[in-house]
Amino acid sequence: MLIRNKRGWEIGESAVTPEGIFVQRRRLVKALAMGPILAPAASFLLAGCGEEDAAATGGKNRNSAEAAPADPSASLYPMMRNPRYQITRPLTDEKIATTYNNFYEFGSHKQIHRAAQALRIRPWTVTLDGLVEKKITIGVDELLRKMPLEERLYRHRCVEAWSMTVPWSGFALKALVDFAKPLGSAKYVRMETFSDAEMAPGQKQFWYPWPYVEGLTIAEAVNELAFIATGLYGKPMPKQNGSPLRLAVPWKYGFKSIKSIVKFTFLEERPKTFWEIVNGSEYGFWANVNPEVPHPRWSQARERVLGTGKKVPTQLFNGYGAFVAGLYKGLEGERLFM
Ligand code: MTE
Repeated sequence: MLIRNKRGWEIGESAVTPEGIFVQRRRLVKALAMGPILAPAASFLLAGCGEEDAAATGGKNRNSAEAAPADPSASLYPMMRNPRYQITRPLTDEKIATTYNNFYEFGSHKQIHRAAQALRIRPWTVTLDGLVEKKITIGVDELLRKMPLEERLYRHRCVEAWSMTVPWSGFALKALVDFAKPLGSAKYVRMETFSDAEMAPGQKQFWYPWPYVEGLTIAEAVNELAFIATGLYGKPMPKQNGSPLRLAVPWKYGFKSIKSIVKFTFLEERPKTFWEIVNGSEYGFWANVNPEVPHPRWSQARERVLGTGKKVPTQLFNGYGAFVAGLYKGLEGERLFM
């Protein structure tokens, strides 16, 4: 696997760069030129991996989601656990998983759980568009009534080399793809987070290409592991974890698991994703977990298991190779693990 150490801002502004992205990139270059004040933000993080945090060692002095007001979908929880998805590690303490978060819309540090309570989760409309038989716009509660709901226990491995194991509730992404009825020409699904800089002040940080965007191939999206999570620990999803619906793709680094999704767009061309635009040499489209392919700035061989103080070896595809390795046959020329 060839790892290119090229900096994000060295990428050529060539043909394929849409104008909006180009402009954001120019702003970024400007931010970098402003020196040390903005440079830390622009050195792009997803890099708090060395830091120990109270939340990671027990979550002392933190509010968990328990204090959040009732969610209108609360009666759907807990959902029936699907026994097919087994774990070999203890579940992470709920308080840790709900107080040690990445959600850059509310701040570029881990303690955003209080700030994220500003997220307004109703009304919440989801749009399914692009290469589909017919564009669909649907409220999240109606969508939940149409989907086959279940709970799954999954590991989650952040690119920053920490991990957790949690019970997500929700539905297979395949059920949503079937509902959307994509055309045969659709090869990718692009997912987009809300845009509202007043509600989510992180979106005022002009050097990021808001809104947060992620993407999967259709083959990945209909793989049985790809999951749209609407709840956590048998309750509706805490806002800080990406309410009311977020992706969970446990064989990929956590940044692929986009939170608070408002739109699924079916495309023929591969979409550019948030972190790929920010720094494509460090965060790519595929981002499959592989302990043997280091991040340009740190090793991916081991991971810090939140709440245990322990580091353990990372597994290829985060241990989910039996489900997903076949998806990548014939794609060996791609940067599959970055
Ligand atoms: N989605 C949005 N919209 N914004 C983000 O900043 N961070 C990603 C991912 N999804 C992020 C996001 C990263 S880097 C990780 S590791 C996971 O969310 C963290 O999920 P958690 O807070 O539930 O652990």
